[in-house]
Amino acid sequence: MRHATMPDTIVDKLIVALDVETVREARELCAALGGRVGMFKIGSQLFTAAGPDVVREVIGVGGRVFLDLKFHDIPNTVAAACREAARLGVSILNVHAAGGGEMMRRAAEAVTEVAEREGFARPRLIAVTVLTSADATTLGEVGVTSTIQDRVAALARLAERSGLDGVVASPHEIKIVREAVGRANFIVVTPGVRPESVAHDDQKRVMTPAAAIHAGADYVVVGRAILKAPDPARAAAEIVEQMEQAEGQQAESSRV
Ligand code: C5P
Repeated sequence: MRHATMPDTIVDKLIVALDVETVREARELCAALGGRVGMFKIGSQLFTAAGPDVVREVIGVGGRVFLDLKFHDIPNTVAAACREAARLGVSILNVHAAGGGEMMRRAAEAVTEVAEREGFARPRLIAVTVLTSADATTLGEVGVTSTIQDRVAALARLAERSGLDGVVASPHEIKIVREAVGRANFIVVTPGVRPESVAHDDQKRVMTPAAAIHAGADYVVVGRAILKAPDPARAAAEIVEQMEQAEGQQAESSRV
């Protein structure tokens, strides 16, 4: 089974969230950041405004895409939506683990089936555990009484048992995911990442890019810290540099 590539270089590990209103802005960012970041994340804002054409366009100019639509519906609908997302040629797509085991299993089967039948690299299908904007109060409001940590561990285990390739989780929860799921190639994608100097916005469980790499993130997602920077390309380069240093330190400490 061919898979979309795993991150090889440190640049590959940086995913930029194209949380913008228009195709024009997305195009400008792709041109400025192309080759300097590993992937572009297209989420519900840009997808709702511009539709699947923007996904095709980013892929068409050589960008890899993480389609972050966090599907959560009845199993049949989610499986069908994932099949269409895979057909667009994205590298990663996601569903909400809270949608349950059957929903995730059916989605994984649909993605595998369409990739085999139509002969393209199977994208990675990952599950959102607990949003990085959520805290104990947010969980309580929707009737979840377990701690964030227990909830993340349970949803990560369920995602793995349902055939998914990894999870989206806060960098604070990487260790919990690794302990809950023993599989070495289970990827952890972490949003809620900001350099020291940048405001937290609505994210409650944040970490710096270096700390997220140190904690074992396979990919880090950065949105506003790059998009709102006066020079997004420079901001991305600085983040890659910080990640590189963290990886170097990690390699160093594992040698001693
Ligand atoms: O601007 P910022 O860096 O906070 O953007 C984070 C991005 O990651 C947003 O596009 C948001 O939708 C996404 N995301 C998140 N938490 C998750 C999953 C995705 O913040 N658990």
